[in-house]
Amino acid sequence: MENIITLHDLSFEPYISENQIKDAVKELANKINSEFGGEELHIVSALTGSFIFTADLVRELEMPCQIHFVKVSSYHGGTSSTGTIRLESDIQVDFSNKNVLITEDIVDTGLTASFLFELIKNKGAKNIKLATLLYKPEAYKEALNIDFIGFSIPNEFVVGYGLDYKEIGRNIKEIYKLKQS
Ligand code: IMP
Ligand code: MG
Repeated sequence: MENIITLHDLSFEPYISENQIKDAVKELANKINSEFGGEELHIVSALTGSFIFTADLVRELEMPCQIHFVKVSSYHGGTSSTGTIRLESDIQVDFSNKNVLITEDIVDTGLTASFLFELIKNKGAKNIKLATLLYKPEAYKEALNIDFIGFSIPNEFVVGYGLDYKEIGRNIKEIYKLKQS
């Protein structure tokens, strides 16, 4: 079959095209623009996976933005979440009375999102919203509301557009899913 890619020991097939991603990012940005209007927004991007989504999203935002990166990890190289979150790189910002938007590439169990929410809340933010490009509702275990969702997808392992399998595949322009053999 055409367009199958191999990363390490696994094969992946095309799933979400560049154009579909572009339209979804634009649509998310429109919603975020209406939600916050001209008010300054602090973006907190969860590295590494969300670096591409964040870069594309912020270029569609119209309000003044400050952009911060935190590094968290929950998948240690495999295709399923370990259930423990490590904060590998924090930020020293006082978010008192600020609007904060957490940007994630994908929300799976939601553990990372909840962890980040608490982290930002403890830094004093008055208003915290969460945006994710991808969301796996079947895997989600948290009560936290996800404010902006690009695509809800089944419980499948995906790569590309920032998402990795054992650290490779992030630079692929489209999103691919694990091929069932
Ligand atoms: P959660 O804490 O279980 O919601 O997992 C979130 C993190 O796991 C994401 O930020 C990704 O780094 C990683 N992750 C979850 N699902 C996938 C996937 O399908 N492909 C690649 N990484 C994933
Ligand atoms: Mg990862």
